[in-house]
Amino acid sequence: MTEKKPRTFDSAASARVDRIYQNPDVVAQRVFVRDRLALRPGDAVIDVGAGPGLLALEMASEVGPNGRVIALDPSADMRGIAEQRCQNTSWVTVTDGDATALPVEDATLDAVVATQVFEYVPDMALALKECLRVLKPGGRLLALDTDWDSAVVNTADRKRMALILEAWRPHFFHSDLPGRLPSLIRDGGFTLQFTGGTPVVNTSMDKDTYAGDVIYTIAKYAERKSEIAPEICAAWLKEMTDLDAAGQFFFSITRFLFLAIKPT
Ligand SMILES: C[S@@+](CC[C@H](N)C(=O)[O-])C[C@H]1O[C@@H](n2cnc3c(N)ncnc32)[C@H](O)[C@@H]1O
Repeated sequence: MTEKKPRTFDSAASARVDRIYQNPDVVAQRVFVRDRLALRPGDAVIDVGAGPGLLALEMASEVGPNGRVIALDPSADMRGIAEQRCQNTSWVTVTDGDATALPVEDATLDAVVATQVFEYVPDMALALKECLRVLKPGGRLLALDTDWDSAVVNTADRKRMALILEAWRPHFFHSDLPGRLPSLIRDGGFTLQFTGGTPVVNTSMDKDTYAGDVIYTIAKYAERKSEIAPEICAAWLKEMTDLDAAGQFFFSITRFLFLAIKPT
């Protein structure tokens, strides 16, 4: 299913992403991404939708001062956070831009990375065309996206759970992109080299868990932006916090990773 509304990251959303992307679940996800990408000293890489610049800074230490990291994001608030984070790393450039119009010369980069970004990009065919254009032959594209069809959440009320998760989907432009990405990537002229997944699994809603943030965010989103009655949203959130208090909370979501090569 494809939703219609594009997503912007304002100051509050940017601060939230900056905070939760430093929790252990998302730190582990970046390790998974960097292991697969295997950057080398001197590589030139663009982080498309770099957000708060956490991955950009980690990649900068891998490519070193002879390499180059372009941290691109259309959100001024995200760029502000990334600029501050990367201010002492001169080979990181934080820049305004969109996935569908990369401000980069043809065939100049060793790698393009987009983690949890393509799910917000309406024209994926154009975004992939841009990725292919800026990569050197043999260069690597790494995309990581969440599929909300992979959500597993403990509940005694599956019907209400389905209603709330459905209400959350319009937060994304594509809430189920991973299932279509392999063919989009191949149709875009790439050779798909690796497909894998990394689940976030939380058995509590502690502050340092992904669920400890996303459950509240979903409840707020459903209440504000869907037609579900506020009492139903509140009852769902109460079920989640009650399960947590009783030691019965379970939440899991899978992020899918695609590594593709530009043919030589
Ligand atoms: C969930 S955040 C992920 C940030 C970062 N990639 C990470 O994994 O830490 C999504 C980011 O995608 C950016 N974004 C949304 N639409 C975009 C587009 N069309 N082109 C490039 N970036 C976009 C947002 O501004 C936001 O910073």
